[in-house]
Amino acid sequence: MSTLKKILLEKQIDCKSIWFMRQAGRYLPEFRKIRSQNKNFIKLCFDSNLSSEISLQPINRFDLDSAIIFSDILLVPYVLGQDVKFVKDVGPIVNKFELDKFLSNDIEEFSRKMDPVYRAIEKTRKKLNKNKSLISFIGAPWTLLTYMLGKKNKDGKKDFLKDKKKTNLIIKDLIKYLCLHIKNQINSGSDVVQIFDSWAGLLDKNDLHEFCFKPNYEIVKFCKKNKIPVICFPRGIGSEYLNFNKEVQPDALNIDYEIDPKWARENLKNVVLQGGMHPQFLLKSEEKIYTEAKKYLDIFKDVPYIFNLGHGLVPETNPEKLKKLIEFVRQY
Ligand code: CP3
Repeated sequence: MSTLKKILLEKQIDCKSIWFMRQAGRYLPEFRKIRSQNKNFIKLCFDSNLSSEISLQPINRFDLDSAIIFSDILLVPYVLGQDVKFVKDVGPIVNKFELDKFLSNDIEEFSRKMDPVYRAIEKTRKKLNKNKSLISFIGAPWTLLTYMLGKKNKDGKKDFLKDKKKTNLIIKDLIKYLCLHIKNQINSGSDVVQIFDSWAGLLDKNDLHEFCFKPNYEIVKFCKKNKIPVICFPRGIGSEYLNFNKEVQPDALNIDYEIDPKWARENLKNVVLQGGMHPQFLLKSEEKIYTEAKKYLDIFKDVPYIFNLGHGLVPETNPEKLKKLIEFVRQY
């Protein structure tokens, strides 16, 4: 069993497990080389050979316990009929949402269009050591909606919260495809799932239950029914992590860098914790990186804990510093 699963399923505290969000990405020169030859990001994600190669890049370079498949949460809206473009220095741009078109999708077509992702998982699993996990992921419905329906800011968000009936109709349908996507990824060889609710922090407290907790709960329920270990990441919700944990009950929670790790250790019970350290620390001196890592390792020393960050690695990260951080965590 992988160390990640030993911690997630058996709650082991005497083994370490390390992986990083965005461990396959622009901070690696070998990724930038492939990316410069593949200007269309979506097309790159659907290239099974390259996607598998990119997923293994961090594994070949560092002493990590898990690979995460190179893909993107926005492939789901893309396959459901909305064109997605990644514009340099701007981020992802998603075409106008059309409800009729969205509702006319069907599950067989979805699985067929997503097939290159599943082939990439198969290829990666074959090349990955048996003691390592292969993590697959999805975006939570709310976070996908912020891209599908409008701008990722408080005002843009208000527009589609005006018609909650319509929003809930879309969420219900999205959950169907997201569960299918999870099942397909697991059947292809991935063994752990992470749900990214990166924009949960945009929701007002009153809307959190309906648009964050509830959809995450539905998907976690599906994972549990199918015995799929699941990690949730409701970024930016502050002390509401407490209610998230009570309502959703995932196997693990990734804390973001705004969460005080001591508070998390005391308040987030019956759940494995992951991550927390601010990715910007990796841009600082080695001393500062180690001191910060030590803080998390000390606080979580007698509970099951997965070493990771409070959000993804930033493109400016020096791979050599990441290597040293991994060595530090291993030896500590
Ligand atoms: O973690 C990994 O190594 C696996 C790969 C992965 C990517 N995207 C590849 C990627 C994962 C897990 C994601 C998830 C994702 N995608 C999220 C949730 C996590 C988070 O960061 O909050 C979100 C919100 C997206 C949507 C997305 N994709 C954005 C906002 C951007 C552009 C901004 C950015 O950070 O570059 C992307 C593009 C993207 N996805 C890149 C990578 C490596 C960079 C693409 C490039 O080379 O230009």
